[in-house]
Amino acid sequence: MTKPRKIIIDTDPGQDDAVAILLALASPELDVLGLTCVAGNVPLPLTTRNARVICELAGRPEMKVFAGCERPLTRHLITAEHVHGKSGLDGTNLPDPAMPMEEGHAVDFLIDTLRAQTPGSVTLCALGPLTNLATAFQRAPDIASRVCEVVLMGGAYFEVGNITPAAEFNIHVDPEAAEIVFKSGVPLVVMPLDVTHKALTTRARVEAFRALGTPVGHAVAGWTDFFERFDMAKYGSEGAPLHDPCTVAYLLQPDLFSGRHINVEIETRGEFTAGMTVADWWRVSGRQPNAMFMGDLDAAGFFALLTERIGRL
Ligand code: BDR
Ligand code: CA
Repeated sequence: MTKPRKIIIDTDPGQDDAVAILLALASPELDVLGLTCVAGNVPLPLTTRNARVICELAGRPEMKVFAGCERPLTRHLITAEHVHGKSGLDGTNLPDPAMPMEEGHAVDFLIDTLRAQTPGSVTLCALGPLTNLATAFQRAPDIASRVCEVVLMGGAYFEVGNITPAAEFNIHVDPEAAEIVFKSGVPLVVMPLDVTHKALTTRARVEAFRALGTPVGHAVAGWTDFFERFDMAKYGSEGAPLHDPCTVAYLLQPDLFSGRHINVEIETRGEFTAGMTVADWWRVSGRQPNAMFMGDLDAAGFFALLTERIGRL
């Protein structure tokens, strides 16, 4: 087997973040160097708690978990308890974690790791607002050229928005941070709502997790059951989108996804459109492409991968 790919997961768990983390921890193709937590779905004390709950559930209490930024670069924090529940991980009751947090700040871990590892060998997988990544790029501009790529969940084009009519949650929470990342020159792979709204759970897909008969399978089924209620009521859809696992699935099986290498700009000033990803899907702007912006996925293949890997834990 080729050497596992080194990744750092930047996250604000969140049930769908949890499934993404479990998918990564279950996959021998990936070497997870650490988890960096950010405020997003819930405030930082809860995202750091939840990240450790997930590592312990996966049987990985030695995983490095760092606390990062507790608020966006310039704005007040917006959270999403209305989607994820009060804890951020409602739907499955798990014990408080016993494993410790790492000392030091997540941003320092990002900078130090990128400087210490071979240039081009570390991929950043971003599942929440981009505050930690942007802070690291601002503080240490030399690291941008050392990142292999950033694979992130955020934004939307045809699906427009989920937290406002014009913006997706992760980008809307910290548009200034997103702008820094999108202008950084680092290769970007973006999983927008256009893709993640196709990664929909169905009764059969949730029951397949439960039928694994393992504590992890039950936890994933409980989380997705909880998460579903909100999206089914909102969209009238059959299930809920598993947004964040699309990023890790891409690292494992990129051919599940298709998209376009295009220019994407972040709206930071709009009164009604802050956090909008202005994606030049039709290539009309003449601006330089800066992101591989995904548009479609093979949902059956995605869930087959996910279920098989979750079954390994
Ligand atoms: C994104 O926002 C969060 O609620 C999810 O965890 C995901 O990262 C979807 O808009
Ligand atoms: Ca998330």
